[in-house]
Amino acid sequence: MRRASLLALFLFAACGPKPFVPTDKIATLDRLDDVMHVQARDADPWFKKIGQAQYADADWEALATVALRMQTTAAKSKSFSRGQSFDVLADRLAKDGADLAAAVSTKEAPAVNAALEKMRGTCRACHKEFK
Ligand code: HEC
Repeated sequence: MRRASLLALFLFAACGPKPFVPTDKIATLDRLDDVMHVQARDADPWFKKIGQAQYADADWEALATVALRMQTTAAKSKSFSRGQSFDVLADRLAKDGADLAAAVSTKEAPAVNAALEKMRGTCRACHKEFK
């Protein structure tokens, strides 16, 4: 029993949800993994909604924040650059963040879906090459 709960605690600490990192603390992250966790925490829930016909009013604000934070994390990821091609993909992700912000300002679901899909494509392209 005791050993099982210790194990559960360990697993939670090792793989459990990572704490939220405020935007003004992103610059202080000192590992690429930590930057990636922020990106995943921000983007993954929205990637799951790609294709949705409508977004709720509260979603627009949340999406605008994610779009902005993605530009910050993408820029930060270049502190852990693995070469020129990595930097090109990190810049592409920053641009995807800006494009998502523009799509969000239209408040049109298809535009947001397309921007999210493009962003997910950049995550995948970089992981294919560097992860
Ligand atoms: C410029 C390249 C690049 C882009 C763009 C990128 N990643 Fe990553 N990602 C990496 C690399 C490299 C690793 C492996 C990290 C390591 O080995 O330390 C990684 C690892 C991860 C991990 C695993 C972290 C861990 O625990 O090891 C997650 C989750 C992740 N990325 C999410 C994302 C998401 C979500 C996006 C897009 C919003 C994204 N990444 C975009 C390069 C990138």
